[in-house]
Amino acid sequence: MRAGKYVKQVEGYRAFIPAPLPPLPPIAMDAELTRLLSEADHALGRLDGVTSILPNSDLFVSMYVRHEAVLSSQIEGTQSTLEDVLQFEMDAKGQEHPKDVEQVFNYVRSMNHGLKRLNSLPLSLRLIREIHEKLLQGVRGANRTPGEFRRSQNWIGPANCTLATATFVPPPVHDIQEALANLEKFLQDEKTYPTLIQCGLAHAQFETIHPFLDGNGRVGRLLITFLLCQRGILKFPLLYLSHYLKFHRAEYYDRLMAIRNDGNWESWLKFFLKGVGEVSRSATETARKILELRQKHQALIRDKASNQTNAGLLLDYLFEQPMVNVRLVEDHVKCAFVTADKLLKQFEELGIVKEVTGGRRNRRYEYSPYLALFEPAEIN
Ligand SMILES: Nc1ncnc2c1ncn2[C@@H]1O[C@H](COP(=O)(O)OP(=O)(O)O)[C@@H](O)[C@H]1O
Ligand SMILES: [Mg+2]
Repeated sequence: MRAGKYVKQVEGYRAFIPAPLPPLPPIAMDAELTRLLSEADHALGRLDGVTSILPNSDLFVSMYVRHEAVLSSQIEGTQSTLEDVLQFEMDAKGQEHPKDVEQVFNYVRSMNHGLKRLNSLPLSLRLIREIHEKLLQGVRGANRTPGEFRRSQNWIGPANCTLATATFVPPPVHDIQEALANLEKFLQDEKTYPTLIQCGLAHAQFETIHPFLDGNGRVGRLLITFLLCQRGILKFPLLYLSHYLKFHRAEYYDRLMAIRNDGNWESWLKFFLKGVGEVSRSATETARKILELRQKHQALIRDKASNQTNAGLLLDYLFEQPMVNVRLVEDHVKCAFVTADKLLKQFEELGIVKEVTGGRRNRRYEYSPYLALFEPAEIN
């Protein structure tokens, strides 16, 4: 078979041994696939271009990353929302947090770590293990083994299914190493396929190998962003592809299965490229709205704020950290507590932020119109 073969193991179950990448026969670039590739490329190029028209792009990139982290984690059932993550970052101690918010926070750290490491390290198995380690750090649960490839057989399927009834059984332990070595080589091959096709192939292959006991979905999705950024297709991690994958989850899994069962790489790639195109267009639109919002609130501040410098600093800060308390503003604006308090109250009066907790002690403010720009993507 083109994508690999099922091999019966001595224990009685059948495991899948993937064929090395690139696929043979090669990907058939029919008219539809060619068109989807070109559209995805174009949309991604426009998204990347947004970073040059938006001032201080690094301020809002962190929201894109958090957004992707939330959605990618939600694909396999994590319940935390964007607001949970922002609140967690704001006061990591004391409060009651939904227990999986830490996982989402780890996802953000993994993404940032990986992007930084790519300056000095190729996209390699070593980097993949580092990412995995960050992703599962401190997260409770047996059998997690952060940063280590698995040393036992795993399987994919409905809760409580067994090896015998699994939907899919990835390669046995003794076959993982070779499959991973080939994937690593493929990740570093810059010639055979356009980067987007390579992203699609590598992600699917990674999910098929399923080299970790947990976190395979998330690490595999991070790989896509890493490849795009490393190849210079994106300067910043702005693509929240998990939005699409979450919305089309059943199809996502079916297309992966069809690669294994029918060698159908092309249908998977079409599905993948369609997603890249859609999400890129949506992310570009979000950026345009961010720009509008920023201009609107800058004008409001120019008209009404009593201290222009402090107000400007706070507004910029809100694009990075749209949930704040007085103490955070005090730190960031470098002013007295009372000044920060007044500033926030003024922002509230101007309708820029909203207070979301009662009580005098730890008042929390949200930059709601900004958060709302990431809401339509919260598919539940
Ligand atoms: N047939 C399939 N059914 C479900 N998930 C699949 C299937 N094939 C591959 N996967 C991948 O496995 C991932 C789940 O694996 P898991 O190790 O639990 O990752 P995570 O903990 O990051 O969600 C999915 O997100 C998907 O990418
Ligand atoms: Mg999991």
